[in-house]
Amino acid sequence: MSGPALKQLHAHRAIHDAAHGEAEELTGVFRRFVEEGRWQQARETAALVVEHWHTRTLRHAAEEESGFYREVAQQDPDRAGDIGALTRDHDLMRQLVAEAEARLADVMPLASPRGESSEPVEAFREIALRFEMLLWLVERHSREEEKRLLESPRETQRSRAVPQGEERSGAHGLG
Ligand SMILES: [Fe+2]
Ligand SMILES: [Fe+2]
Repeated sequence: MSGPALKQLHAHRAIHDAAHGEAEELTGVFRRFVEEGRWQQARETAALVVEHWHTRTLRHAAEEESGFYREVAQQDPDRAGDIGALTRDHDLMRQLVAEAEARLADVMPLASPRGESSEPVEAFREIALRFEMLLWLVERHSREEEKRLLESPRETQRSRAVPQGEERSGAHGLG
């Protein structure tokens, strides 16, 4: 569904920017709850932030790896290094989301109707740190991805000028 959009710079950038803006906003709400010591709201918002990363950015990353990146790599084997670096970014994003999720699971059982037995400040700081790192990493990843795979004149020229059949026979001829 979003496959063709991923190949167009403006559409792809719009996907990045919309998801990042929402994540930034939700993270801001979460941070505020932590600062105010409103732990239950902080938990609920952190769960929303994690869900957001899963359903938007990590899903986008999985789509890229199974479609867009593969196509780019097939069309231009010289891009293997770029694809490797960008996929590594995706792996780091997955790791950060998993770590935030694990910390969040740790603080969940502390919820009690009579309030906190101990303040989960440290755990929430750890979660907030992952969220901040995600925002930073995803922002840089998106710009790199746009630059390396979508803004390059070489790639645009090749994908427009070289019919797929010719591209393929050329690559086979060399190999
Ligand atoms: Fe990506
Ligand atoms: Fe992307």
